[in-house]
Amino acid sequence: MKRSLSGIKPTGNLTLGNYIGALRNFKNYQDDYENFIFVADLHALTLPIDPTFLRSNTKDIVAFYLAAGLDKDKTTIFLQSDVSAHSELNSILINYLYMGELSRMTQFKDKSSKLNHEAIGVGLFAYPVLMCCDILLYNADVVPVGEDQKQHVELARDLVHRFNTRYNKEIFVMPEAISPKVGARIMSLSDPTRKMSKSDPRGDIFLKDEPNIIRKKIMSAVTDTDTDIYYDPEHKPGISNLLQIYSALSDIDIKEAEMRFKDMHQYGEFKKIVAETVLKEIVPFQERYKSFLNNETINDVLNTGKYRASKIANKTLTKVKKTVGLYVHE
Ligand code: TYM
Repeated sequence: MKRSLSGIKPTGNLTLGNYIGALRNFKNYQDDYENFIFVADLHALTLPIDPTFLRSNTKDIVAFYLAAGLDKDKTTIFLQSDVSAHSELNSILINYLYMGELSRMTQFKDKSSKLNHEAIGVGLFAYPVLMCCDILLYNADVVPVGEDQKQHVELARDLVHRFNTRYNKEIFVMPEAISPKVGARIMSLSDPTRKMSKSDPRGDIFLKDEPNIIRKKIMSAVTDTDTDIYYDPEHKPGISNLLQIYSALSDIDIKEAEMRFKDMHQYGEFKKIVAETVLKEIVPFQERYKSFLNNETINDVLNTGKYRASKIANKTLTKVKKTVGLYVHE
């Protein structure tokens, strides 16, 4: 059976972008794939973060996974920090990637550009190495992610090629990034030329926002001054973003969404429909999330996940250790 793996980093509050681009799609892989979904908690340490927030956000994400339809009997749900093989493989594979390629990563460039050069953490720079380890430890065939993570999966592909060629053996499986046809890059509602990210309270819809706040944010989304509703990200980024959100949550393509609104020339009416579409999906999701958010459920899921994930990850780690010449003994 093929394997699928993905994860979310517990920095900031999860957004509708995370939901549409990734979270919502994770359950699609649990029947036909061996599905691994984890919380990338070690990755959250690459920028300063409050420990109490990190802990509670990690729990939240596990509850979100369950609310999004992941079943712990079908999907291995675990914490990255619970499986020590991630850090161990990181110590090995960090030697197989180059400064040049890591400094070309868009996400690193974006994040580090906001920092004083002297204060850029080594972990932030080396972040994609750990992400390669996450993927390669489980020999994932597919990696469901939003648009912004594709470059990191490309790097993992380069690394697989490099490593397998160097040792002339199929040690790692070649992973492939998979993104949803619609919704792989949800934009900010306050500035639709920027990606919706976990750090913009005005332009983001947070998965924990109250329904009236969600409605308000959508109704005040920035658009153009025209009245026609069609998809043109370059000239109509705001309307195109709302169409994207509507299409993704209605499970239809953009063309069909455009058809539905072609005779409606009122942005206010359109926004109302988009808001109702979002609420129809998010309100029941929030209720399920609350029902899963107790220590007993979360710990039970994580203990099972830790056991299953460690077994597979340790097997890969041992294979890699032997391949590179480390002395493995019983
Ligand atoms: P993270 O936590 O930033 O984002 C989690 C997922 O949400 C997607 N996403 C979006 N999709 C559409 N529109 C948006 N505006 C939007 N914002 C975020 C991301 O593409 C991602 O799929 N490095 C990863 C976590 C990670 C990982 C991995 C993922 C660590 N190891 C191994 C896959 C496999 C990250 O920071 O995602």
